[in-house]
Amino acid sequence: TDVITKADVLVVGTGPAGGTMALALARLGVDVMVINKYPWTAPTPRAHITNQRTVEVLRDLGLAEEALALAAPNDLMGENTYCTSLAGEELGRLRTWGTQPHRRSDYELASPEQICDLPQNLLEPLLVGGAARQGARVRFSTEFLRCEQDSDGVTSWVRERDTGREYAIRSKYLIGADGANSRVVDQAGLPLEGKMGVSGSINIVFEADLSRFVAHRPSVLYWIFQPGSSVGGMGIGVVRMVRPWHKWLAIWGYEDVANPPKIDDEFAKGILYNLIGDDQVDIKIESFSTWTVNDMYATKLSAGRIFCMGDAVHRHPPTNGLGSNHSIQDAYNLAWKMALVLGGKAGSDLLDSYNAERAPVAEQTVTRANKSLGCFPPILEALGLFGTDDPEQMRRNMASIKDSTPEAADRRAALRTAIDGSDFVYNCHGVEMNQRYASNAVVGDGTAPPQYDRDPELFYQPTSFPGARLPHGWVARDGARVSTLALCGDGEFTLLTGLGGEAWVDAAAAASEQFGVPIRVHVIGPGRPIEDPHGDFARIREVGENGAILVRPDVYVGWRAEAVSADAAERLCSAMATILALP
Ligand code: FDA
Repeated sequence: TDVITKADVLVVGTGPAGGTMALALARLGVDVMVINKYPWTAPTPRAHITNQRTVEVLRDLGLAEEALALAAPNDLMGENTYCTSLAGEELGRLRTWGTQPHRRSDYELASPEQICDLPQNLLEPLLVGGAARQGARVRFSTEFLRCEQDSDGVTSWVRERDTGREYAIRSKYLIGADGANSRVVDQAGLPLEGKMGVSGSINIVFEADLSRFVAHRPSVLYWIFQPGSSVGGMGIGVVRMVRPWHKWLAIWGYEDVANPPKIDDEFAKGILYNLIGDDQVDIKIESFSTWTVNDMYATKLSAGRIFCMGDAVHRHPPTNGLGSNHSIQDAYNLAWKMALVLGGKAGSDLLDSYNAERAPVAEQTVTRANKSLGCFPPILEALGLFGTDDPEQMRRNMASIKDSTPEAADRRAALRTAIDGSDFVYNCHGVEMNQRYASNAVVGDGTAPPQYDRDPELFYQPTSFPGARLPHGWVARDGARVSTLALCGDGEFTLLTGLGGEAWVDAAAAASEQFGVPIRVHVIGPGRPIEDPHGDFARIREVGENGAILVRPDVYVGWRAEAVSADAAERLCSAMATILALP
């Protein structure tokens, strides 16, 4: 096959990972091509929980307003309901996605953004459209087949599915964002740990006006506990809001993972009427499919010039809603590094930091999401769904939890404890935000990483420790509040300092000059363009007023200095040289 086309970067996949990568690279002026074997982006809602960090990333990429206009807001997400069917008995609720009164402030203090619900089929066109607007070349119906790499680049063979024509694309880097059955991961020979196909689930997308069952307890998820619901899959039936309150996705398990059931409209309707608990509701089925719960991650995300991201390297159930979020954040982590290397501003070793920074996140994502499946059996147990195979007995057990007996009181207490324990499925703010990167693109300052004061999975702990995301605080520009995060990003390095730190302005100019990389500086304080009226910046910076925080383009802290000094420029240049992997 002739090599008929070239791109600096070829991205395989237009999902959350590939779409973000194409957009982020194109915005930084990189010549990028992105392919998808299908004629268009994902047709079904799939991932939807969009956490604060992801909205921050979308804002930096210029898509937040469009995304939020399409998303269901946080206040429609939180009355997570456990019930016997939508029309049936309610067993209990748990406030989720940061809506608990005692947790709201944690989320509000952590970020200027709110968790929202954005179905994947609405997000993907935004990302891909944004990429195309920024100059990415987008090719649908183009399937990645195989690749070979050498010291200068990668040759990938692809097939145009419309015509059957095969051709090669030559790129300097290849990105495998091709999902849980990634061919790029296979070709790169990345090491994978864990197991695929742990259990089986059926997804049914349907339209039905379910307002009367749900509008009084607005939530993304309604969990249905019934005899038989513990089979396979998530362990429980789920009715998930896609659009409030008329579009839905239902999930039900199936027994034999290797042999998914044959589904037709009749079969699907049977499941839906059972979950809704009212067969008079008008239902229009849109699609159905089967999927498996996976428990697998790559321990290395790259091989030579091939870098993989998203579900290709972390494959896990939807519990905790991390799938799309961590896929987007993988791409955001790598894009600026690749742009700097391709632009000749950074050494190629900078790309090694992708592996060091994101492989631990891949493992954490898969481990947490699978561990969260273990939060449901205690609920089933308290309801009396274990210990018998007889559906009638199960129903009697569920009913007897309402008895006025000491035994039933104990079971009610056990049920409450079990429901509260499922906090780990939905409210892991720490898993979403506590990433602390340790790599060659982070320069330590000699201090030890701060200990976590609370559970590090449930609670986010802001810190400007090098390798952590810059903490959010409200500062003021021309009197109007602006997040510290918004002072940074946009593909550039930023240096934040306070009064007395003016010497950092010259230091940043010297470093910009030396490396040919822009570094913005904000001197924050009274009488400056950015003021700190609430003292937020003073509280979050964890360095002296005339110290400095060097923020990478992905808004993670790359380095910090406790105080200014006569050799400020040398210190900053040395940190920049390390981050940019320059001798
Ligand atoms: P993603 O799988 O989204 O994208 C892969 C891309 O690569 C696609 O564009 C695909 O067409 C393309 N591709 C694959 N092979 C290719 C090849 N050889 N050549 C060219 N292109 C190729 N999550 C969740 O939180 N809640 C949920 O309910 C669901 N439901 C769900 C249903 C289904 C059917 C799937 C497949 C997945 C889910 N998920 C989910 C998981 C969620 O969709 C997933 O975590 C993210 O989409 C991951 O994003 P990526 O971009 O990594 O992969």
